[in-house]
Amino acid sequence: MITAGLITGASSGIGLELAKIHASKGENIILVARRKELLEQLQKEISEQYSVKVIVFAIDLAEVDAAKRVYEFTKSQGIFVDYLFNNAGFGTHGKFNSFPVEKHMEMVQLNIKVLVELSYYYLKDMEENNSGKILNTSSTAGFLPSPYFANYFATKAYVNSFSQSLSYELRFTKITVTALCPGPVKTEFAKVAGLEDSKMFSKGADAYSTALKGYNGMMRGKRIVISSFWLTITIKFILPFVPTSMLLKFVGKDKTI
Ligand SMILES: NC(=O)c1ccc[n+]([C@@H]2O[C@H](COP(=O)([O-])OP(=O)(O)OC[C@H]3O[C@@H](n4cnc5c(N)ncnc54)[C@H](OP(=O)(O)O)[C@@H]3O)[C@@H](O)[C@H]2O)c1
Repeated sequence: MITAGLITGASSGIGLELAKIHASKGENIILVARRKELLEQLQKEISEQYSVKVIVFAIDLAEVDAAKRVYEFTKSQGIFVDYLFNNAGFGTHGKFNSFPVEKHMEMVQLNIKVLVELSYYYLKDMEENNSGKILNTSSTAGFLPSPYFANYFATKAYVNSFSQSLSYELRFTKITVTALCPGPVKTEFAKVAGLEDSKMFSKGADAYSTALKGYNGMMRGKRIVISSFWLTITIKFILPFVPTSMLLKFVGKDKTI
């Protein structure tokens, strides 16, 4: 049996950097996303740099049976996934009803359902071995509501809640669960969300430093990793005192951000 870290959404952004960081520690990795050519490019790059096994599994995780297929693939290869990086996700920006319902359901499927299902399968194996780590790429979006991002922010609230509860349930084991909560990061996320001209994202953090903070937090077994000092202050010490009506007005004030 070989051990490997499995990274969803490894073809770009934070997931790609997580894959590189994990491989740089001498760990085998399984790269999961839809764009096979990008995954194979990354596989080649990492294999040339580090002597680790890099496996590509291209799949559309928005398909209902996708998580099970990923799990069955790793089982069939005799792989014990000791690190699970639930990272794939996307958001849409605009009025809730301006998108087809299928788009919202796809977001719930990817940001929540796949994450829960993969955690379920791999946690069973981790519990049998009493070892393993899960890093869920959540968001600071999970700490507040946001008009025009209603579904996306809600999916991340789920991930924050789920990750913290699971982490507590596992406190007497050697398994840890961490939620990485970044603010805006310069990745393909903004383009996918229809916000390519947004200053908030173009001035955002870089994917490597964000991934590294999450990775280090996971290694230390932290429950929540907020990616910057000022965001931590805002979320922990300011947000709880802002009335919701004021918060909604402020966050939703400009649809184009
Ligand atoms: N960028 C930000 O400002 C920001 C802030 C906070 C949290 N986050 C979170 O960070 C995570 C990573 O996003 P990112 O910023 O790195 O954006 P990104 O560059 O757009 O990366 C998203 C990744 O998810 C994969 N993905 C999307 N839909 C998929 C599907 N149906 N099946 C399989 N894979 C799929 C993409 O690969 P393919 O297209 O090849 O499938 C890509 O590898 C997300 O969960 C996001 O919510 C981002």
